[in-house]
Amino acid sequence: MAAVRILTGSVYGGALLTARRIKQELESRDHTVTVLEHPTLDDITGNDDALLVCTSTTGQGEVPDNLLPFYADLREQLPQQPGRPFGIVVLGDSSYGDTFCGAGDLLEETLYETGARKVGDTLRIDALETMEPEAEAVPWALEWINGI
Ligand SMILES: Cc1cc2nc3c(=O)[nH]c(=O)nc-3n(C[C@H](O)[C@H](O)[C@H](O)COP(=O)(O)O)c2cc1C
Repeated sequence: MAAVRILTGSVYGGALLTARRIKQELESRDHTVTVLEHPTLDDITGNDDALLVCTSTTGQGEVPDNLLPFYADLREQLPQQPGRPFGIVVLGDSSYGDTFCGAGDLLEETLYETGARKVGDTLRIDALETMEPEAEAVPWALEWINGI
């Protein structure tokens, strides 16, 4: 069974709710899941749990405020995480054009710089297409966890 830390970034609660639903479903399959609403680097450096980013996108392709300190510290300090599995679930809205789901790309790029290993393709959830992000995210997470 796997241990997973979910790094959430959310403005209106959609990504947080999605992370909580993922936790529920993974825990019912005997995985251990921690949802981090205000993650810090210490939350990831003291363990080797798989990392799942579950964030929305704000501003113009930016990371939500609650995830921003983590993102900034990660980018500045780049604590090396060779081979550590990670995945990305990102909520956005395709009407934003070029910045669609940009927060996921920022986190992905920085995690790659730490040497972490991406598992699965980024799941991009478009608010124009669905009102229930968890309905896409849960099946994706159940497949993702088999690859970590
Ligand atoms: C002020 C504002 C800016 C946004 N900027 C972007 C953006 O640049 N790119 C994008 O894909 N979605 C953008 N979105 C859409 C949100 O990411 C999307 O609605 C998401 O589902 C919100 O999730 P949350 O409830 O977790 O905050 C923006 C939404 C708002 C209200």
